[in-house]
Formats: sequence, C-alpha cells, structure tokens
Amino acid sequence: MSKPRVFVTRIIPDRGLRKVLEQTDATVWEDELPPPRSVLLEWASQADGLLTLLTDKIDAELMDAAPKLKVVANFAVGFDNFDVPAATQRGILMTNTPGVLTDTTADLAFALLMACARRIVEGRDYARNGHWRTWGPMLLMGQDIHGATLGIAGIGRIGLAMARRAVGFGMRILYHDAMRSEVAENELGAIRVNKEELLAQSDFVSLHVPLTPETRHYIDAAALKMMKPNAILINTARGPVVDTMALYEALKARQIFAAGLDVTDPEPLPADHPLYTLDNALIVPHIASASFETRSKMAEMAADNLLAGLAGKLPPNCLNPEAFNK
Ligand code: GLV
Repeated sequence: MSKPRVFVTRIIPDRGLRKVLEQTDATVWEDELPPPRSVLLEWASQADGLLTLLTDKIDAELMDAAPKLKVVANFAVGFDNFDVPAATQRGILMTNTPGVLTDTTADLAFALLMACARRIVEGRDYARNGHWRTWGPMLLMGQDIHGATLGIAGIGRIGLAMARRAVGFGMRILYHDAMRSEVAENELGAIRVNKEELLAQSDFVSLHVPLTPETRHYIDAAALKMMKPNAILINTARGPVVDTMALYEALKARQIFAAGLDVTDPEPLPADHPLYTLDNALIVPHIASASFETRSKMAEMAADNLLAGLAGKLPPNCLNPEAFNK
C-alpha cells in the first residue's frame, strides 16, 4: 500500500520530522519563511495530512481545495490559525501540542517579567555602550518583584504555571477567568477578581488567554488607563490580545512602567515599528516555547498526532473528536 501523502510546512526538530519522513510520503517546505498561500493550497490539494505551524492559515477555502485531507497537526498549542468548526463539518481532524510547552512558556513569561522589572536589557546596553562611569545611586532603578502583586488573565495551564513561579517570589496572586481554579486558590493562594480589579491592583499583568473574538484587544486604551503607573504588562499569549498602538501610547506617556512582549500584532513586528524606539518595551520574537527539549517534544507530539490521524485512529490531542466519526 502506498504511504500517505503529507506536507510539513517547515523544518521541525528531528525527533518528530524523522517519524513523519519514515512513515509517510512527505514533502517539507525548507524555507525560513512560511509557504505562500498558493503553495499551501496546491499542496493541500494532494495531501492526506498536513503538519502546520501557527503561521499557516487552515480555513474552509483550504479544506475545500483538499479532497483527501484527513488530519492537520499544528506544531503549537494555540490554534487560532485553524477554523475548527469548518474542519469538523468536513470530517477533518485537527490537533495541537498542549501540555509539553506549559512550563517552558511560563519560564519565558517570568523571564520577561523580571527583565522588565529590573531593566536588564537597558542595563546591558548601558554598560556595553560605554555609559557606565561609576556606581549610581539612582541608576536604572526598577520595580521589586518579591512581594508585588501578579495579575494573571486566564488561569489555564500556562497561567497556572506562571502562578506557581510567583509563589516562589512571595508574590500576591490575583487571577481573572470565566472559570474558577480550585488549584490556583487552594494550592497557590490566588484570589479570583474581575477584570477591573485585576488591572487596578496588579503590579504585573500577565496575559494567558487564547485569542478569540472576545479576547481581541482585551488590553485596550481603557484597560491600560486602569493599570497602575508602576505596572508591567507581559504578553506571551497572542499579539492581538493587546491593542498595539494603545500600548505604544501608554508606554510612551509612561502611563505604565513597561511591557514585555513575546507576541505582537502584527507579527512579525516590522523593524521600523515605533514600539522598538521605547526603552520600556522589551520585545522578543515569539520564542516562549523555544527550548531545545520542548521544541523536540512538540515535534514528536505533532508527528504522533498526524500519524494517528492518517492511520484512522483518534489522535491523542484531537481538537475536534466529533469529526472522528464523520
Ligand atoms: C505558540 O505560540 C504556541 O501556541 O504553541
């Protein structure tokens, strides 16, 4: 029997790629940039399965161009690039990589929090640009982390992992979520508050909500106005959860102290974007899950999901199991 036809939209770590190459008739897009839409559509038209990244839009148009498509495996936990209801209607299985990147992502969120609070990147630039002439009593003063209040928007897996880190720093933890988290409250002492309280009381606001129509611009000009002048905003969720230009204005006017962003809107943020001109904006290129080990685990998980779907089995991380019986 011929092997299933598969397209992998970027080179992923070997632990996953090897499995896909061994067990399928796979073509890999080897460029650093995503395949253009026309290539993706052309590939999809022949594919039994796709292994995709969050930069690949998998919508109804693509599915309609893909008569054989059985499964699409995302190399990401977020899946706002997927139209899941459209896939379910067509009996196409969609999968993601939850769990394996939780702690690595929370590590980066906490690293951004600390770097912004203690002005690490400004200090690095100050020293290496020759400005360091003596010990300065007022030099590069920042915000304390220990004892401060951390506000977590979205207490899912990653939000909870962020709260666990905050416990070690003696922080007070607030969270806002439609669902109550008993673990956050009972094990970590977190307090559930409404969005306004979260914004008004937190010294750090860390975003861990998925991108949906409801969370688009969760942080807008009005939300930024509610935040404390010493507050630091951390976004490792999705760029459009924050209104970029409202954030730029708030940071420029020193209405809040700083922002640490792993994700931006647009993404990538163009090199001439005004946010880069601000010392109190720390921007890194969507690397929260980028540890060697975690990216390998994500690759293996995406491969396993893809191969299960191709073999007619329910993939371990299926987003739409109701599509399985179609
Ligand atoms: C990365 O942003 C992911 O969703 O895994």
